[in-house]
Amino acid sequence: MYRLQQLLLSLLVITVIGASPGWARDTAIEEPLIIDFKERFLPVVARSGMVAGPEQLASEIGSRILQQGGNVVDAAVATGFALAVTYPRAGNLAGGGFMLIHLAEGNRQVFIDYRESAPAAASRDMFLGEDGKIDLMRMYFSLQSSGVPGTVAGMLYALETYGSMSREQVLAPAIALAEEGFPVSFALTYELANQGKRLRNNPESLRLFFKPDGNAYEIGEIWRQPDLAWTLRQISEQGVDAFYKGEIAKRIVAAMQAGDGLITLQDLADYRVIERPPLRGTFREFEVVSAPPPSSGGVHILQILNLLEGDDLAGMGHNTAAYLHLLAESMKLAYADRSEYLGDPDFAPVPVAELTDKAYAARQRKMIDPGKATPSTTIAPGSALLRESMDTTHYSIADNKGNMVSNTYTLNASFGSAIAVPGTGMLLNNEMGDFAAQPGKPNPFGLVQGESNRIEGGKRPLSSMSPTIVFRDGKPWLATGSPGGSRIITTVLQTLLNAMAFEMNIATAGISARIHHQWLPDEILAEDGISPDTVRLLEQMGHTVKLGGRTIGRTESIIWENGWLLGATDTRRPQGWVAGF
Ligand code: GLY
Repeated sequence: MYRLQQLLLSLLVITVIGASPGWARDTAIEEPLIIDFKERFLPVVARSGMVAGPEQLASEIGSRILQQGGNVVDAAVATGFALAVTYPRAGNLAGGGFMLIHLAEGNRQVFIDYRESAPAAASRDMFLGEDGKIDLMRMYFSLQSSGVPGTVAGMLYALETYGSMSREQVLAPAIALAEEGFPVSFALTYELANQGKRLRNNPESLRLFFKPDGNAYEIGEIWRQPDLAWTLRQISEQGVDAFYKGEIAKRIVAAMQAGDGLITLQDLADYRVIERPPLRGTFREFEVVSAPPPSSGGVHILQILNLLEGDDLAGMGHNTAAYLHLLAESMKLAYADRSEYLGDPDFAPVPVAELTDKAYAARQRKMIDPGKATPSTTIAPGSALLRESMDTTHYSIADNKGNMVSNTYTLNASFGSAIAVPGTGMLLNNEMGDFAAQPGKPNPFGLVQGESNRIEGGKRPLSSMSPTIVFRDGKPWLATGSPGGSRIITTVLQTLLNAMAFEMNIATAGISARIHHQWLPDEILAEDGISPDTVRLLEQMGHTVKLGGRTIGRTESIIWENGWLLGATDTRRPQGWVAGF
């Protein structure tokens, strides 16, 4: 039976791929495709190129760029600009992010930091009200909530440094989508309905995201964005200066000056993309390459992998109480460190080497009792995490030469600050909310965070975004990443463990139920799919378990194996798409 299924799959694969002229050009298949049919979910299979992302039109644009002869960076930039049109909850021009690239030529990795930075006039206590408490509306939903955007600079830097196509070529599909419009999807109507109130509060957002009569677009109606098309055209024709010095910059600053915004023409002109060495670590035979500070992602993924490396995880069984206990205890230790030590490394040193050292993990591992939960308060008193937005987005791209891009970018909250810059069609980020607004004191959620992430002009707020690429036998193997604020780290971690330690295929690895523990609050968030028996056993060990639907991240991943590309979009949010050929 199993052999028959395998044969049928091979036939299916050859039929589907065989229809593509791209595959036909690539000639014969040298290696067999190995997929275990015993798994409940199967990846999408392609031969030559693949984009896994949160929205169909943008994934297809990236895949088309690859088919047209563009490289993975061309495809990543085209996808990033397209998502700014089709996926406005997180795709963006006025946000920021991180791009991790593996270049087959030279066998090297590049990490591009295009995180937003605080305007020069930003200050430590800017979000405190007269009562000394954090003013949440100002921090998250005002002009002051916006950091200096990095996306346009980051995308164009990647293109000019590592791409092969022209600006005009990679921006053309996004311009066409904005100008000619596209049918509104179920996912978009759902997302706009969710954030409608906030968007309607801003007159420009109301004009952009709703019909002239104020009603919401319905599924299948065509949505055109002429203002956004203008902005994209400016970028296409004039490059990075259009955004940071030219007409777009003037419109951003005019919007700031019409209210109490802080971003000036000088802030925009001063914005810089930073190439940083990516973080590297190992888990058994795998090499894991991920995001360095100002992301906390890579540090804590590597730290937790170090903590778990010596245990027989597969022997414990996937998502058993024994495994989840060990996972949760390791997460606690890492997130306690995160609250104390992580921030922008250009402002205060971050002890990356120490935190990702295997000897440090060995010492920390001794603190984990195999049968009993350690109360978070006894791990490190007095500090914790600010609540982070659950939004952000990720896409992964790979070709059959071993090139990969893993890109996570964000406006922070869904639709950012919900404030649009008049005449540009674009929403402003609210990334200033990722700073610690009141270091050392409880915030309105009862939490405290350290000085390392206090607000300072020019500084980048601490992030959890974790674009990651894993190498196996020295070859690029897996690209992944996720949205989800502080849950990004635990989402990417469990996806990696599912693939590396439990040998799941990439679809099952992404879809399987996850947990999240971030030290404080001292509770395990457990998704649907963690069995009630397991929850009971965890509670008997002393854990507080909160049941949390299916709300932990949303991965977009690709594995490159035996010359095949195997991709998966996570079904936790609607209408992600894997496009391949
Ligand atoms: N704004 C989410 C993050 O950077 O982690």
